[in-house]
Amino acid sequence: MKGNPLKDIENAIGSCTSLVELEKMRVSLFGKKGYFAAQFEELKKLDGEAKKEFAQNLNINKENFLELLNQKKSALESVMIEEQMRKSSVDVTLFNQESAAGALHPVMDTMDKIIEYFVSMNFSIEEGPLVEDDFHNFEALNLPKYHPARDMQDTFYFKDSMLLRTHTSPVQIRTMLKQSAPIRMICPGAVFRRDFDITHTPMFHQVEGLVVDKTGKVSFANLKFILEDFFKIYVWRCESTFPPKLFPFTEPSAEADISCIFCHGEGCRVCSHTGWLEVLGCGVVDPNVFKAVGYKDVSGYAFGLGVERFAMLLHQIPDLRSLFEGDLRLLEQFR
Ligand code: PHE
Repeated sequence: MKGNPLKDIENAIGSCTSLVELEKMRVSLFGKKGYFAAQFEELKKLDGEAKKEFAQNLNINKENFLELLNQKKSALESVMIEEQMRKSSVDVTLFNQESAAGALHPVMDTMDKIIEYFVSMNFSIEEGPLVEDDFHNFEALNLPKYHPARDMQDTFYFKDSMLLRTHTSPVQIRTMLKQSAPIRMICPGAVFRRDFDITHTPMFHQVEGLVVDKTGKVSFANLKFILEDFFKIYVWRCESTFPPKLFPFTEPSAEADISCIFCHGEGCRVCSHTGWLEVLGCGVVDPNVFKAVGYKDVSGYAFGLGVERFAMLLHQIPDLRSLFEGDLRLLEQFR
């Protein structure tokens, strides 16, 4: 090293660009054959005052260079960490193909299609609360307290006679109290019952329908026409039948059954070996319901259909409960 050797060493340390280079530098200074080893050999050759002075300088230089090496080491290390972080950082603005491939849940997809049909037939969409009172869910629907038909719908109760609505029919009452006839509405929404087996879950969805008219001409025939048309368009090639049933809020009342699409009418576990699947309840609005909402000289029909039933049928899902398990192996098939 010529010129000012100390300055040269300082510069050499400063210009190291990696930890490997710096380590080489350290060895060339402090190693057995390094700069300081050579300097100590020089020291041996001196005597007296000169030796003392040389030794003092040597120790100061040693300290300085150790300090310089350490500083440079931490500097290089933090540059390296920053570099690593920059390389492995996640760009949150990047387009994610996984999330773009999401899909509607089959129940919501089914619901949308049902709504689409009825909206195309000029029905409006109404809403009501999930937590209902006894009046709207039962009383006004011709289901007075202690009426045995209340047992048909195992109810989740809160305090103060509040409950989780067991069907979307209370929205019939809310709509009629809010506006006057004519009414032509549907109400899609969640309903709750204490039920759990392969065709029942404690929460499921219904689409309620209500048509009320002042002409007095709305009849069961109109109801049957629209439902048969809906089945034809929506569940292609199925057969339907309307066996009588009892609902306190309609008279006459019927259920609508469509031919089981699992066994095509042969009889299987899903249709309880009947060949038919009940998909909705319907009927001509009972006069007591009109009385409860103060309607006079009107006639109407109503229906309430089970959305999950249709989802099961259309997608051939044999166990209703699987729709609510959130299992991606099932849900990914609906992309
Ligand atoms: N609310 C009835 C049920 O949940 C269905 C229904 C609606 C029946 C309207 C008749 C008229 O079972």
